[in-house]
Amino acid sequence: NIYGDRQNSLGRDYSQAADRERHAKALERVDSEKLTSGPIIGGKLKAGVNPQDVTNPFDRSQVLGHVSEASVEDVDAAVNAAANAQVAWDRIGGSGRAPILRAMADALEADMDRLVALLSREAGKTLNDGVAEVREAADFCRYYALLAERDFGGAQTLKGPTGETNHLILHGRGVFAAISPWNFPLAIFTGQIAAALAAGNAVVAKPAEQTPLIAAEAVRLFYKAGLNPELLALVPGRGEIVGAALTAHSGIDGVAFTGGTDTASAINRGLAARPGAIIPFIAETGGLNAMFVDTTALKEQVIDDVILSAFGSAGQRCSALRILYAPREAADALIDGLKGALATQVIGDPTDPKTDIGPVIDAESRANLEAHVERLSKDAKIVARAELAPGSDKGDLFAPTIAEIPTPDFLEREVFGPILHVYRYDSKDLKSVAAKLAARGYGLTLGVHSRIEAFADEVVRLVPAGNVYVNRSIIGAVVGVQPFGGEGLSGTGPKAGGPNSLIRYAAEKAISVNI
Ligand code: SER
Repeated sequence: NIYGDRQNSLGRDYSQAADRERHAKALERVDSEKLTSGPIIGGKLKAGVNPQDVTNPFDRSQVLGHVSEASVEDVDAAVNAAANAQVAWDRIGGSGRAPILRAMADALEADMDRLVALLSREAGKTLNDGVAEVREAADFCRYYALLAERDFGGAQTLKGPTGETNHLILHGRGVFAAISPWNFPLAIFTGQIAAALAAGNAVVAKPAEQTPLIAAEAVRLFYKAGLNPELLALVPGRGEIVGAALTAHSGIDGVAFTGGTDTASAINRGLAARPGAIIPFIAETGGLNAMFVDTTALKEQVIDDVILSAFGSAGQRCSALRILYAPREAADALIDGLKGALATQVIGDPTDPKTDIGPVIDAESRANLEAHVERLSKDAKIVARAELAPGSDKGDLFAPTIAEIPTPDFLEREVFGPILHVYRYDSKDLKSVAAKLAARGYGLTLGVHSRIEAFADEVVRLVPAGNVYVNRSIIGAVVGVQPFGGEGLSGTGPKAGGPNSLIRYAAEKAISVNI
C-alpha cells in the first residue's frame, strides 16, 4: 500500500461561531486588498497589456482587483524560462519534488479562510463550496506527491533474456501548458499544475479569464512553498489570444485542458496541425450528465440528491446533473417534491453562510441560460422556477429552473448552470431512452437511484460515463477516492485524483543493456 495513512484535507464548520468569525475577517481582508494579477514570469509580475478590473459576480459594482493580459511576448518568455528550469527539476526525481507539493498543500490550508473569501468574491462560490475547493486543491498536491514518489523514484527492472538488463523509467516531457476553467479556479488550476510538476515538467498556466486573481494567489503560494519560480509561469488572458499563443508555441511539450468540449476540439485541431510535433493532449470537458431513477428508489433521498447534484455550485460543475430520467409511475410525485425542495433553497450572496446557490459566473453565461429557458418555455414545459429576492439584479444571479422535456435526447449539448431537465420514461423503453442519450456522445457522470442491483447494472451498461454514482448525489468527487474524468466527448483521461493521473504527463524510457 503506497498510500500509507493518506488522509484528505479537513475543512471548516460554519455552524461554529469561531469559523464564521474567521470567515468575516478574511472577507474584510480580501475586500481591502485590491489584488493584482497579470503575467508572472520567473516569479515577477509583468506589466502585461489590456488592463481590466475584476469584479464580483454577485455585485458587479464591487471591484476586487485588477488583471492585465499576457502579451504574445510574455507567453514566449514564460515558455523559455520554464524550459530552462525543467531539466534540473526532472532530474531530482519524485522524492525531490514531493516535499514542495506537500508544502503547497500546507500553504493552501494555512491560507484557507482568505482563499474561501476570494473564491466567493471572484467566482461566486458558497462558503461550503469554497472550503471544498481549497481542500481539493490541497488533496491534489498531496496525492500527486505520493504518485511522484511511487512512479518517479528510479527505474523499474523488467525481466528479460539472460545477458541483458532491462529498465523502464518515467520522466517529465518538458513544458506543459495548463489551461483551466473558472468553475474550479483553485482546485483544477492547482491540480493540473501539481500533476505536471509531480511528473517532472515545468508549467505555463493560463487561468480562465473570469478568475485571474485566485490563480495569481495560487501561483504565489507555490513559490512560497519553495517552488523555483522559473518552473511555473502565469499567463492570464483570453483563450483566443493567450491560449492560442500558448498552445501554438514550439516550446510546449504537452497540454492539459479543462473546459468546454468545443474549445477542447479546437485546441486538439491546432495541436494536430503543428508541423514537426506530436503533442500529448489531456482534456477534461463537459457532460450531459443523467440520473436514472426507478420505482423502487427512495423518493426523499432522490430529491435531496437531485437538488444537490443539479443546483449545488449553481449547476456550474462539469459533474452536475442535467437530466433526470423519472419513471412514469413516480414522476409526478418526484416533480412535486423537487418543486418543494427548490423553493427552500436560499439563493443570494455566496459569502452568507445561509446561501445555498450563488450567482452564475458572468452576464454572458446568464444570458445563455435565459435564452435556454426561453427555448424550454416554447419547446418543453417549465415546471418550477425559483424566485429571486428583490435587489438581486446587482450581478449575475440566475433563477434555478426545472423543466420537463418532451424527448429523451432533447438536449444536444451541455447547458452549464442551474437548470434541471426531467424526462418521464416508461420502464419498457429504458433501452431506447438510454441509447438516445448515449448517442449524444458524452460520458462524464451518471447517477442511478434504485434498490434493484440489476437495474443499476443495466443503466451502467447502457450509458457511457467515467464516474457512476448509485443511490447518492453525482457531484463532489474526492481525490484518491473517486478519480474523476470522462469518456467520449467528455474527455481523454487520465482521471484527475487517481492512481493513473500522472501517466500522460510523463514520457517512458526503456533501457536495455547487453552485459
Ligand atoms: N470534480 C468535480 C466533481 O466531482 C466536478 O468538476 O463534482
